[in-house]
This record gives sequence, structure tokens and C-alpha cells, in this order.
Amino acid sequence: LKILSVIGARPQIIKAAALSRAVRLSFGEQIEDVILHTGQHYDAAMSDVFFSEMEIPPPKYNLGIGSGSHGRQTALMMEGIEKVLLEERPRFLVVYGDTNSTLAAAVAAVKHHIPVAHIEAGLRSFNKAMPEEINRIVCDHCSTLLFSPTGKGIENLIREGFSPASTSPFSADHPGIFHTGDVMYDNSRFYARKAEKQSQILNRYSLKEGSFHLVTIHRDFNTDNAENLNGIFNAISEISGRTDDRFVIPLHPRTSKIMAGALEKNLYKKITENERIVITEPVSFFDMIRLEQSCSMVFTDSGGVQKEAFFFQKPCVILRPETEWVELVDNGNAVLTGAESAKIIASYEHFLKNMSQLTFPDIYGNGNAAEEICRILLNEDS
Ligand code: UD1
Ligand code: UDP
Repeated sequence: LKILSVIGARPQIIKAAALSRAVRLSFGEQIEDVILHTGQHYDAAMSDVFFSEMEIPPPKYNLGIGSGSHGRQTALMMEGIEKVLLEERPRFLVVYGDTNSTLAAAVAAVKHHIPVAHIEAGLRSFNKAMPEEINRIVCDHCSTLLFSPTGKGIENLIREGFSPASTSPFSADHPGIFHTGDVMYDNSRFYARKAEKQSQILNRYSLKEGSFHLVTIHRDFNTDNAENLNGIFNAISEISGRTDDRFVIPLHPRTSKIMAGALEKNLYKKITENERIVITEPVSFFDMIRLEQSCSMVFTDSGGVQKEAFFFQKPCVILRPETEWVELVDNGNAVLTGAESAKIIASYEHFLKNMSQLTFPDIYGNGNAAEEICRILLNEDS
């Protein structure tokens, strides 16, 4: 069974690692996983580092598309992916998540009648101002096999007209929906011990377990909106003034490029001259997991980091007005604050008081989502 996995952005490389590992360890004789990298992310710290650390085979194709406007980036990707699809003729195109690379690949494949398998199907923020929401909806509606990490994802698909009663053989007109669990949970479980042993990040920044908070910021509505970016950093500065805890902020290049120009001068000075606030380049996956294991609280607008906070049993302040991972909020593990300083600070205070009462039920599967996905692909091929 030949599949073509299309990746491009950091979280997709990480998700593809789970599938690639399942193929290597359990289905090596049955599945050939050809990897195509669109080049959407290209800095070594946003791409190469994950291939070496997570032992992902090098992509057979790298389109080297790089950054650009939505239209240009997506169009160049579609053109490049189409050529490879026609050359390779895979049995399935496998795509991950909700980026422009996901959208481009799904649209290119479905028009050549190559069945699309979407890993992380069914997630919705119900906010179409997010480019990711458009990408998810279009991709799901081009797909033949939809693998949802959560029960909520299945509910969302059913509400959009997908049928749970649909049976094999599936097609784009009669797609199959499957609740498989989350490949990111597979990764966190698989790499937790390795990260604990191998990562040197705590030593590198003289961090003590439980005495720092982890922050990531990269969503366009936070980086490209000065009021939001100021709101978030103002909250960090305020909290830092109230406690000895440190903040560790591995910054996405999108945010580091914009920060000096977007933050009010005084706030920028306060943040960059505060020794308790450590701003770093993006870190490797093992380093990230180590930070998540050891921090006290997580503040993030990332989808993946929200869940990893939960996997490592940390409370999470979500720097967004809504989330696709609603279970985290419903169960009290995370709070939605948007970018409002007062709400961020209030949520920090809330978790300080309530941290010990949080519970962490099994919402994201059993750590074998990638194996389950491989089995479904093989079954559909037979
Ligand atoms: C993309 C995804 C987003 C995902 C995120 C994961 C889309 C529409 N968005 O957002 O869903 O959460 O990846 O990280 O696909 N840049 C670099 N070096 C890199 C990559 C990016 O400097 O290696 C800078 C460039 O200035 C670029 C900007 O970051 O213009 C944004 O990159 P882009 O891939 O367009 O979107 P992300 O914000 O990374
Ligand atoms: N991540 C990482 N290094 C970093 C920041 C994030 O390895 O410096 C990992 C993180 O652990 C998670 C994934 O990247 O597995 C999340 O990707 P990102 O936040 O870029 O995108 P999103 O999940 O929001 O689409």
C-alpha cells in the first residue's frame, strides 16, 4: 500500500512522525510511506530538527515553497503536489491538521480522484476568520477517510452531513468517519521518557521544576494585531512582577519578527530587560516536551501545545477566544482568555488556587492512534 504523506508546517512534521513510526515499527512490509514536504516551514528549528530527533525518513520531495500570501503559497503548493501525485499515483494521500499545506494537498488530490485521508478531521473553532477553519472544512469535505482525534470531532462531522453509518468501500461521496484518538498523544507518550533523559534545556536556562511558566504565541490574530500582542505581553509582565516564577517563551519566527515593532516601547523594554523572562528561538520537540513536563502553567495560542499541557497534567491559559479542543475547557483544564490582560491574569490566579483539583481523564485515545489509522488504511485497501 503506497501512501503519500504531505507535510509542511512544524506541527505536521511532528504528527507525521507518529505515522511514520507506526509504519516503521509495525507495518513496514505492508505500507510504503512517501513523504512530500511543501517547504512551508524551512528554518532548521522549524523543520530539520524534528526529522533528526524523531527519526523521520527524509522527504522524497521538498517543494521549497516557503512563505507567502495565502493565495500564492497555496497555489504554488497545489501545482507542485499535483505533479508528484501524478508521478507517484499513491493509493491514499495522507494530510494532517489544518494548514495551507493540508488544503493544497487535499484539493490537488481529490480532483485527480486520489482518495484523501485526513488525520485530525472534524475539529472546528466555528470562527471562519481563522484561515485554519477554512482549511479544515474544505479538507474534510474532500476526504474519503476522516480520522478524528475526539468524540467532539465526530459530532461536528455528523452535524455537517457525514454519516456514521457509511460503510466500506468509502469514497469522497461516501466517506468514512473514524474516532481514532490523537497522534499527538501517541508522540507525547512515546517520547516522554526520552525527553526527560536527553533534553538539556532545564540546565541550559537554569530552570527548576515547577518554578516557571511556558508561553507560546504565533496565531495571526495575536501577532498581526498590536492590541492583542500588547495585551498578552502586558499580562506576562504583570504576573512576573507579582511572583519569582520565570517565564520561558520559545518564540515562533512570525512573532519574533514582529515583536519589536508591535509592542509599546516601554513594554518591550520591560519584557526584554526582565531576567525572569527568557525568550528563545523555537526549541526542539524533546526540549518542548521537557519544558511542558517541568513547568507550572502553560500560556498558549497553539492547538498542539494546549493538548500537550493536558498530556503532562498542566493547566493551560488559552490565548484565544475559542478553541477546537473544547474538552479541555469543559473539563476545567484550560481557560479561554483571548488576549485581554485582565482575563489572562485572572486565569493565572484561578489556576494558582485550583491546580490541585484538576483531573485529567483519557480524552485523546490510548497512545495507539497511528497504528489504528494504518490498520484502517490497510483494511480499506484490501
Ligand atoms: C502556520 C499555519 C498554522 C499553524 C502554524 C504552526 C497556515 C495558514 N497556518 O502558521 O495553522 O498553527 O503554521 O506553526 O498554514 N517563518 C519563518 N521561518 C519559517 C516559517 C515561517 O521565518 O521556517 C515566518 C515567515 O515570516 C512567515 C511567517 O513566519 O511569513 C508565517 O509563516 P506561515 O507558514 O505562513 O504561517 P504560520 O504563522 O507559521
Ligand atoms: N513545538 C516545538 N517547539 C517549539 C514550539 C512548539 O517542538 O518551540 C511543538 C509543540 O510541542 C507541538 C507543536 O510544536 O507538538 C505545535 O505546533 P505549533 O504550535 O507550531 O502549531 P499548532 O499546533 O498551533 O498548529
